Parts: sequence; C-alpha cells; structure tokens
Amino acid sequence: MSLLPHGGKLIQKLSLGANVSHILQEIELDAISLSDLELIAIGAYSPIEGFLTQEDYESVVENMKLKNGHVWSIPITLPITEEKAATLAIGDEVRLVSGNVTYGTINVSDIFTPDKQKEAVNVYRTNELAHPGVKKMFERGNVYVGGEITLVQRPEKKFAEYYFDPKESRAKFAELNWKTIVGFQTRNPVHRAHEYIQKTALETVDGLFLNPLVGETKSDDIPAHIRMESYEVLLKNYYPEDRVHLAVFPAAMRYAGPREAIFHAMVRKNYGCTHFIVGRDHAGVGDYYGTYEAQEIFSNFTADELGITPLFFEHSFYCTKCEAMASSKTCPHGNEDRVILSGTKVRAMLRNGELPPSTFSRKEVVEVLIKGMKETVNS
Ligand code: ADX
Repeated sequence: MSLLPHGGKLIQKLSLGANVSHILQEIELDAISLSDLELIAIGAYSPIEGFLTQEDYESVVENMKLKNGHVWSIPITLPITEEKAATLAIGDEVRLVSGNVTYGTINVSDIFTPDKQKEAVNVYRTNELAHPGVKKMFERGNVYVGGEITLVQRPEKKFAEYYFDPKESRAKFAELNWKTIVGFQTRNPVHRAHEYIQKTALETVDGLFLNPLVGETKSDDIPAHIRMESYEVLLKNYYPEDRVHLAVFPAAMRYAGPREAIFHAMVRKNYGCTHFIVGRDHAGVGDYYGTYEAQEIFSNFTADELGITPLFFEHSFYCTKCEAMASSKTCPHGNEDRVILSGTKVRAMLRNGELPPSTFSRKEVVEVLIKGMKETVNS
C-alpha cells in the first residue's frame, strides 16, 4: 500500500499573512465551515481544493464520488443565507471571516440551492431532525457557495502540541521509519474495547496514529479537553511510547455513520496512514445505523479506489470467563459473561461520580473523566 495522498497529490492552499483587506465582500463562517476551510487548505481533504461546486456536490451525494471519479462521501459545503446569496456573483473574490478575523478567501465559481432532503436521505440515511447531523445540516444556510479557497490566517490551534498538518504527520512517520500506520478515529475517551482493537492492529503494523476528533461535537459528547487528558494518561501508562503518534483531528463530527467512515478513512490516508480501523457503529448515533453498516459500505469501492486498507473489528468487550478482551470471533461465552456498557450509561455513571469497572475502562482514564466532568458541571 502506498503512502500517496488521496488523488495523488497533497493539496496546499495556504497564503498565510497575505493582505486581502482590499476585498470588500465577506461571508461569515460557522464553526464547521471554519474547520473545513482549514482542513481543505492543509490538504487533509485532498484532492478537494475548495467548497464543492454543484456538480461535485451532486456527484458526492448521489455516487460518493467527486466528478473526477475520486471517492468522496461527505459533501464539504459552504452554506449561506438567501439574502447573502443575492449579494454575490460568480467570479467574485470573497473574504471568509469568523468574528472579526479574516481566515481565508474563496473564488466563487458556483452559487446553488441544494436539495437538502436528498442530502439527508443519501448522506445520513434519514431525514429525521432528531439526528444531530441532519438537524445541523437543515439549520445551516439554504444556499451553497462553491469555489477554490485560500487560507490566509490559521485558526487558533487547540492542543497545539498535538496539532500536525498532513505534511507534518507524513514527515513524522518517515522519520520514525514507519511503513505501515493504522489510523484511529474517536470522539470518545479510549476505553478497553478501543484499546483492544488498537493493540490488535498494532501487533501487525508499525505504528498507531491516534487521531481523536476535536472539532464540533454534539453537546452530550465528552468535551475534547477532558478526552485529551484521558488519552495522555492512557498512553503514558499502557502504550509503548515509540509506537503511537497522538495528533488531533480538528474536524466537526457529522454522525453520518457509514458515509463518515469512508470520509474518515480518506482523510487519514492524507495524514499518511496505510490502514484505518472501523469497529462497531463507527461515527454512529442512536439507532440510526446497523452495527456493521460502516464496514459494509467499503465494499462499494475497490482497494485501488480507496488506497487505504480498512481494518474491521467486531464488537469487542471484556469476558469474565475468558478473563480477557475479546469479540464473538474469539469468545464462546454468552452476554451474561460480557462487560458491555452503552456510552449513555457510562456518561451517566461518570456524571454521578460512579466508577465504571476497570474491565470497561482503565482506572487512570476513569479518574480523569470523573474529575473533568465535575469541573465541567461546576464551571
Ligand atoms: S466515532 O468517532 O466512531 O463515533 P467512537 O469513539 O465511538 O468514535 O469509536 C471509535 C472507533 O472504535 C470506531 O471505529 C468504532 O467503530 C470503534 N469502536 C468503539 N467501540 C467499540 C467496541 N466496543 N467494539 C469494537 N469497536 C468499537
């Protein structure tokens, strides 16, 4: 498997410090489009060079491919209001701002009204507003602007010490002489099941790229700063230092399950990974997706089209009879012997200061989470 970025070339759309004050028009970015702007510019979304035009958008929504044929499963859009759209024309150069800061520019090549119902059903497999990704999509502007972007100002780097652009993570992997690297996406603390599947993968590859998402998440997910502390303590106590590279993924969570698993894999390919872990209900929420739908979706594409090898894992748990972590592929016992707790249940326990068992989560991790949750409640 090669380490080539998706599309063959790492896109770079940065012109930091460029003076764009002569550009009068501006578009206000929300948190999602600000993070997308940065991720496009640093090549995390290669081969995408800007917010999608109508042709690319429709091709992604319908076929999970850009019009040039490259696999792409989540539309990267710049939504604006109808009022704003009335002030813009194709060919305009527009500043992209948030607060009073200009972060970039877009060369407007398309302004179009998307079919959001279709986007919901195709991308999220539901149009229910109870789905957080669908709700967010409908709340955003009803007109999309397409066009190539340039980043002129980096957004503030949260967790700067763990902030690596694809160019930098690739250089790091080369320096470490890692030839095979498995990427791991998470929006949660790393519990024993996560640790088990990471370490099972680590038995056969050179390194683990632990890449927690720290962009916008739904309000009941555990905040990124608490999670980061939990990863640090876990790595310090339970992982060999020279086999793991911890780096943040500054994207927003879409909760699009299967489609997001493909997207997550493509992005990790751009960060330099050769393999990507997809476990049970990857990027899912509630009961919207079947346990293994995020794995099944990969069969729509050839190995060449993907260019990164997905590593699929069954639902894993601690089995009290095996006295080990396992899955139904390796453990013959029944549910009564298996420690299985839902995320909702664990969050409720943590909020009440109750300790989930060490067979579910390492005690050092639990301590960080309980302390963090208390501080969040009191702040
Ligand atoms: S998410 O970003 O995919 O929503 P989450 O932290 O829930 O984050 O999961 C991270 C990765 O671990 C995903 O690939 C998910 O499928 C996998 N995973 C989580 N829990 C388990 C489990 N108990 N067994 C197997 N895989 C799991």
